[in-house]
Amino acid sequence: MTDPRRTALVTGANRGIGRAIATALAERGLRVIAAARTAAAAEAIAETIGRDAVGAGLDLADPADLETRALALAEAHGPIDVLVNNAAVLLPGDGLGTTVAAMTESLTVNTIAPFALIRALGPGMRARGWGRIVNLSSGWGAFEEGFGGPAAYGVSKAALNAVTVQAAAALGRPVKVNAACPGWVRTRMGGEGATLSPAEGADTPVWLATLPDDGPTGGFFRDRRLIGW
Ligand SMILES: NC(=O)c1ccc[n+]([C@@H]2O[C@H](COP(=O)([O-])OP(=O)(O)OC[C@H]3O[C@@H](n4cnc5c(N)ncnc54)[C@H](OP(=O)(O)O)[C@@H]3O)[C@@H](O)[C@H]2O)c1
Repeated sequence: MTDPRRTALVTGANRGIGRAIATALAERGLRVIAAARTAAAAEAIAETIGRDAVGAGLDLADPADLETRALALAEAHGPIDVLVNNAAVLLPGDGLGTTVAAMTESLTVNTIAPFALIRALGPGMRARGWGRIVNLSSGWGAFEEGFGGPAAYGVSKAALNAVTVQAAAALGRPVKVNAACPGWVRTRMGGEGATLSPAEGADTPVWLATLPDDGPTGGFFRDRRLIGW
């Protein structure tokens, strides 16, 4: 029996690495729900991706009704089998120079919103016996790599890594939940001097989003290799 056609929800799909991930998943035959901050941006990018991709407005800065909105998307478009938590903000500020507002926004968009989407969609994946969840993290959120970037960003990505481990344990092996560091990528966040193209940065997240049944879960990967938390 061939696998059923899978549906993937990608946040922040309107530009950067998210756009490259959404495009690559559509090219691999998945049905893509391209989420962006506004419905207009989401619909525009879905049209560019083509291959029956659809757009969905999901503003992650207000996670209060995100679970309801994610379940409504599943109701409208069918079961969501793959969730790529890609969208994030990178706000300036080192150590205690970071404002509480920057810390709050970073944790909200980069950690709590992904948690809400996993909470909404993960149990359905577990019940159907198949799911893939990819959390776009960063070496700047790794204790092992010394938190090289702005403080609020590092805290939010370290917390996202913790969410990854907890969700993997809660959802069981048929649902693969992994974190990915895409490397240093030429996007608005990464800047023009970065070493990788968005498509190259999308490689590890796309690999994790399409893992075979014997693939890993609960890990942190860069260049398709396990790295330390
Ligand atoms: N670029 C790198 O070198 C690098 C390195 C390590 C990790 N990463 C991670 O890779 C992922 C993608 O990064 P990127 O470089 O592609 O970033 P980017 O070019 O800055 O794009 C960020 C995306 O997140 C969306 N977003 C931000 N706040 C949002 C909100 N409140 N609601 C909905 N969407 C929101 C943006 O939407 P708008 O267009 O509406 O702002 C945009 O689509 C992020 O998780 C990032 O932390 C990137």
